[in-house]
Amino acid sequence: MRKKIVAGNWKMNLELEDALNLCKEIAVSTDKSTEVDLMIFPPAIYLYTMSSLPFETLEIGAQNFYPAEKGAYTGEISITQLSSIGVKTVLIGHSERRAYFGEHSDFLKRKVDSAIENGFNIVFCCGEPLNVREENNEMKFVKSQLIDSLFHLDAKQMEQVTIAYEPVWAIGTGLTATIEQAEEMHSSIRNWLTDAYSIDLSNKISILYGGSCNPDNAKELFACPNVDGGLIGGASLERESFLKIANSF
Ligand code: 13P
Repeated sequence: MRKKIVAGNWKMNLELEDALNLCKEIAVSTDKSTEVDLMIFPPAIYLYTMSSLPFETLEIGAQNFYPAEKGAYTGEISITQLSSIGVKTVLIGHSERRAYFGEHSDFLKRKVDSAIENGFNIVFCCGEPLNVREENNEMKFVKSQLIDSLFHLDAKQMEQVTIAYEPVWAIGTGLTATIEQAEEMHSSIRNWLTDAYSIDLSNKISILYGGSCNPDNAKELFACPNVDGGLIGGASLERESFLKIANSF
């Protein structure tokens, strides 16, 4: 059975008081018996405080880390440092890190390996920019992203991975993939997992959709057979909209 997951990527938003309040509000509004796993990826500066809060219903993950054990990497955070404060989940491959911070596929592969070696769960992001979709090359593009940075893992390691399909043209733009576009890509990703591993494994991996997902479109997106939840940006910055999305299955 695939896990249903709704994750909030707060990116570089919210100051301390608002961040803690939002985190607490979401956690106390969430029932432990809910069948949806909720995750928040706050700015790194809040990770220690948020991951120390006694909430069982909310997984706190890191938006970023540097794939070296320790050393002279000014401004960076290692995976073992994340581990030492109780964080167990990381986001890797977000299009903003690829585009603004030059994180290319080999570097992302190192991040994947570093996270897996340290027992972390990974939410691995993939997705094509607009020009690639306009040229009808999105399948090839996304498949390469997965092959180049992720599919070297063995089947056991892959069980630590959740995939998030985020078409770059839909992120923060208000343009959402249609349900046909989302399902087409998600079912392709599942088929690639089956080809590279097994049907058994591909049926265990959750594939999330991200890109202008909001309370108005979440229900129809989550109803697609291969969409197992969402990675939410803007709409995760407010309690009501995030919880509405979480209740959209
Ligand atoms: P938006 O929901 O703001 O489009 O952002 C999606 C995203 O990038 C989540 O990682």
